Amino acid sequence: MSHQTVIVLDFGGQYNQLIARRVRECGVYCEVKPYTTSIEAIRAMNPIGIIFTGGPNSVYDPASPQADPEIFRLGIPILGICYGCQLIAHNLGGRVVAATDDSAREYGKTETYFDTNCKLFKGLPEQGITWMSHGDYMEKVPDGFALTARSDACPNVAICDETRGFYGVQYHPEVNHTQHGTDMIRNFLYEVCGAKGDWTMGDYKETAIRAIREKVGGGRVLLALSGGVDSSVAAALVAEAVGSQLTCVFVDHGLMRLDEGDEVEAAFSKWDIHFVRVNAEDQFLIKLAGVSEPERKRKIIGEEFIRVFEAEAKKIGAVDYLVQGTIYPDVIESGAGDAAVIKSHHNVGGLPDYVDFKEIIEPLRMLFKDEVRQLGRELGLPEYLVMRQPFPGPGLAIRIIGDITKEKADMLRLADFIFRDEVAKAHLEGTMNQYFAVLTNMRSVGVMGDGRTYDYTLALRSVTTSDFMTADWTRIPYDVLDRVSVRIVNEVPHINRIVYDITSKPPATIEWE
Ligand code: XMP
Repeated sequence: MSHQTVIVLDFGGQYNQLIARRVRECGVYCEVKPYTTSIEAIRAMNPIGIIFTGGPNSVYDPASPQADPEIFRLGIPILGICYGCQLIAHNLGGRVVAATDDSAREYGKTETYFDTNCKLFKGLPEQGITWMSHGDYMEKVPDGFALTARSDACPNVAICDETRGFYGVQYHPEVNHTQHGTDMIRNFLYEVCGAKGDWTMGDYKETAIRAIREKVGGGRVLLALSGGVDSSVAAALVAEAVGSQLTCVFVDHGLMRLDEGDEVEAAFSKWDIHFVRVNAEDQFLIKLAGVSEPERKRKIIGEEFIRVFEAEAKKIGAVDYLVQGTIYPDVIESGAGDAAVIKSHHNVGGLPDYVDFKEIIEPLRMLFKDEVRQLGRELGLPEYLVMRQPFPGPGLAIRIIGDITKEKADMLRLADFIFRDEVAKAHLEGTMNQYFAVLTNMRSVGVMGDGRTYDYTLALRSVTTSDFMTADWTRIPYDVLDRVSVRIVNEVPHINRIVYDITSKPPATIEWE
């Protein structure tokens, strides 16, 4: 089935995939293409609209990325964002110059005033915050264009030529800081381009499955499944595409949360794939015995993981493709450009070097986390897997302070489960981005029944964050904390004291180790 298509023409801006994501969010299929894409190729895609992205250059610099002027004669609506807006002005008879004083150079949140008669701002408030990031300035707007938004510093924040369907905005509607930014993009798509909203994540799934089948052919595929959202969704997608050609290796290092290994295994039982679960608890615990230094724990687990995975891969023999659950934020974090810089997930440092394969497939590479979750639902993965909070590769090892034993891991597993269970019962998951228990290495005196106890202190940790780089501790209602505390000391042997961690990040980190 074919869909209406929007082309996001990439001029090198940092938010380009975010623009694509907003278009998808509005129910319209879109592809990001380099600015060098030929006019013939653009025409062949039969787009209903084109969006020029931002970019770091100045349009008046002869070396800057340019659009083929023919693009303005295709009769297709164009929305230019930041650099893209200046490109429209520059090409159609306007003049863009470097801002000479600070007032014309805008950066950050800016109060902006809109003309809601312009289709772009139809039905939206006349005033709001936009996110600006530009050092150049449109000194002269092209003939035929109207000014439809302004800020206190700048009279031409938005330009439009409604007869030709050309629109430009100086600010970034795609970032969250811009109020009603997505609504503006939706207006461009629906009011200007005549979008019907004929695309869903279900369509993405179908397209991705077709692409994987084409690429893989009759080849063999290997995937290291961690049980986290990304690798699970990638596995489900490839399972749906090539079924029995896929082998998923799931290394259970024994430091997973309660029932996690079984849940992951159960979720994949509906596909006809080779699912290899390696129960390596003993092996990991032996290696970790007596080790209390956090970085050393991480290193041991990382190395042991590779060893186990490698042994399994050897049994399977040569494979053609290795699947990785890299998602778009990983790509940004790795500083990757067009080239495939692979971020090793879950501390599986350098995994590809140890496995004999021809090529890496990263089917989620262009998706954001919430889109990955949505795709997981489309593939029929259970909600508990799709909505799973981040869990560090070394697992509970870095939540048991000091040395690790099976007894401690079991205590922590149960306490952590109780915490999550009470959070779920109180319907608080939406306000807590990551929450877990930490078994401190401290023991203190307590009284239980008529006897004295000398047992462990357990810490609860919960953070509210959007990027996990900074985080605030969650204000969990006292009655919920109380229920968690009462249950843990009653149900988990050898824990007699519960504390709640009320530090933000920074100065603390989210994990304790
Ligand atoms: P911190 O503790 O650095 O954690 O504030 C930030 C986020 O990263 C996760 N984390 C890890 N993930 N391997 C991982 O795969 C690790 O060694 C690791 N350490 C921390 C942490 O759970 C949080 O989401």
